[in-house]
Amino acid sequence: MTTLLDWLRAQTDDADLGSVIVSMAASGVEIASVLRQAAIKGQIGVVGAVNVQGEAQKALDVISNDIVLNQLGQNPAVGILISEEMDEAVEMANQGRFIVATDPLDGSSNLDVNVTVGTIFSVLGVAGGLLQPGRAQLAAGYIAYGPAINLVLRISGDVAVFTLDDADQWVLTQAKASVPDSTAEYAINTARDRFWDAATTGYVRENVAGETGPAGKRYNMRWVGSMVADVHRILMRGGIFLYPLDSETRAKGGRLRLLYEANPMAWLIEGAGGRATTGRESLLEVVPTGIHQRIPVILGSSEEVKRVEAWYARG
Ligand code: AHG
Ligand code: MN
Ligand code: MN
Ligand code: MN
Repeated sequence: MTTLLDWLRAQTDDADLGSVIVSMAASGVEIASVLRQAAIKGQIGVVGAVNVQGEAQKALDVISNDIVLNQLGQNPAVGILISEEMDEAVEMANQGRFIVATDPLDGSSNLDVNVTVGTIFSVLGVAGGLLQPGRAQLAAGYIAYGPAINLVLRISGDVAVFTLDDADQWVLTQAKASVPDSTAEYAINTARDRFWDAATTGYVRENVAGETGPAGKRYNMRWVGSMVADVHRILMRGGIFLYPLDSETRAKGGRLRLLYEANPMAWLIEGAGGRATTGRESLLEVVPTGIHQRIPVILGSSEEVKRVEAWYARG
């Protein structure tokens, strides 16, 4: 049996970086326990506050954020925390050398219906400042709270998958996740069809046309509505995820957030042999202009992502 600590020791000589990941893993164990019992303890529903994104915060968004804040606050290696649920970057008392950017609870719309949600995180060095491109990440990962609880991690090498056992220990269950180059499964919120740009419309129309269309094969569509769950499926068996820039999200720059949703997921997908783009440039090359900046996200199996890029290149 390989534990998280065994894996971390083999992946990096930097014990402080390892400790940051251990703190996020510990947050995941706590959040998992809260999610299991939320309905019993009356922690379902909204709290009445609105976060910096203009979204109604749910009780579990706030609780999850507090758990991460508390765990990282105890770790001397952490200097700054950026979170979806906090307007400003928080300087931690310990003044450590790492920045953590996190979506403490991803998939808010699925919280009250017992569908997989997650925690996403990105680790950067304090010296590079708050607005570093995804390429500068030192590590990234997510925790998926589903039928099993998985921790998916990449420092700079392979993408590893851990499963939480009954003793709350993270056990390595896949040492090297790999996204197949080709796929016949795509994920996009098709209810937004009327807002799409020509590239998205063109690409999806080809997929819907199936084996008699230009794509030449029959496609299937899956959309969980929790990015963590959709990305996890793609890491396990391939696929493509699209939350493109559309006419409704254009003013904000997109729907998903660059620092704590797009970048860590792109880091993982690329590490597993997949591809990640805004449609027009590599996601990991984008230099952020703000900590809560939004960005179009297209990632997954490389052949499929390239098809979308070809659509964008047409106009
Ligand atoms: P969050 O719950 O952290 O705000 O993120 C929700 C995101 C992401 O998980 C998902 O892919 C997307 O919102 C779903 O958007 P739609 O509701 O438009 O399908
Ligand atoms: Mn949210
Ligand atoms: Mn999210
Ligand atoms: Mn969230």
